[in-house]
Amino acid sequence: MTRANILCTEHLDLVQRGGHDRVMDLWDEAELPESGEKKTRNRTQRLTQAEESHYASRALDPSAMTPGPDGLLRPEDVSNAVFLGDSMEIGPLLPRGCVDVLVADPPYDLPKNFDGTRFAPMGHEAYLEYTRAWLGAIADSLSPSASLYVCADWRSSSAVYLALAERFIIRNRITWKRDKGRSSSVNWKNVSEDIWFATVGENYHFDAAAVRVRKRVVAPYRDKGVPKDWTEDASGRWRMTGASNLWEDMTVPFWSMPENTDHPTQKPENLVARLLLASSAPGDLVLDPFLGSGTTAVTARKLGRRFVGIERSGAYCALSLKRLETAAIDGRIQGYDGGCFSGRQ
Ligand SMILES: C[S@@+](CC[C@H](N)C(=O)[O-])C[C@H]1O[C@@H](n2cnc3c(N)ncnc32)[C@H](O)[C@@H]1O
Repeated sequence: MTRANILCTEHLDLVQRGGHDRVMDLWDEAELPESGEKKTRNRTQRLTQAEESHYASRALDPSAMTPGPDGLLRPEDVSNAVFLGDSMEIGPLLPRGCVDVLVADPPYDLPKNFDGTRFAPMGHEAYLEYTRAWLGAIADSLSPSASLYVCADWRSSSAVYLALAERFIIRNRITWKRDKGRSSSVNWKNVSEDIWFATVGENYHFDAAAVRVRKRVVAPYRDKGVPKDWTEDASGRWRMTGASNLWEDMTVPFWSMPENTDHPTQKPENLVARLLLASSAPGDLVLDPFLGSGTTAVTARKLGRRFVGIERSGAYCALSLKRLETAAIDGRIQGYDGGCFSGRQ
């Protein structure tokens, strides 16, 4: 048995017993040099030129695929697929009604360089048009019971809300305290993002039990001396409660996390995990039309969901495909241990 196998077996055992922190410790130790010297490593995933060409060549090109009788891509060709290209063009080629959940993290209305392609601020009206355009490109691929999650910052949030509300039923707005932001001498530091939650129709999947969170009990109420709806153990007094729309327990990926890459706006896997656990069942198809470093696809794979991702940068497609390969062997999601989100890293 190799060291990796032993770790995997120990990992499963620990996960079943809820020992997530120790799991991460084991992983850390496995990475240590022979001398046993303890030091924190920068784990940012980077591809060599050869790896980038190798993985990028595995990204799919819809124009090279045989379409179905309706001229669209065939359902079997979009299951666990990473497409290299523009969502505005590939979105309309997806089979009608095949997608169960959309997770979209489009460029915000900010200056940003995505692998050499510069995204320039366009202002509210133009960003609203842009959002309408990409939502229109993927709309027919959504099933009647699909859920949608669309990320935004404070500047782009109102346009995303308006564009979503024109076609879909808005259900909520999640606010994520991402905790990283630039200080300003003339403004408040921005450390939050919105994730709009909408559905196509009235019937949709929502598994609140799958995303319950552990909450410390501040005012422990007892009924005839017996704790009412809370538990006391060595870790203190706590109860499991429904997840709210304010998420403060997840950070952006940073350099010491194995999922970290050089993508400038990478989302954390545990954030996407919470969305997928609530709004999809195993085997469902998850669409991400702005795949970036592959977080949605990787998390979908780790949770037994199928995925279809679209990304116009070959380098980011390569990163996604490399991460997907690793995810097939190591299904851990940092901060989620198979039933419970373990809070801030
Ligand atoms: C905000 S990032 C997404 C980051 C992603 N959530 C992650 O965790 O890595 C947006 C991505 O969309 C890509 N992109 C922008 N416009 C696109 C388009 N029209 N079609 C496909 N990809 C696009 C960019 O290259 C960038 O990688």
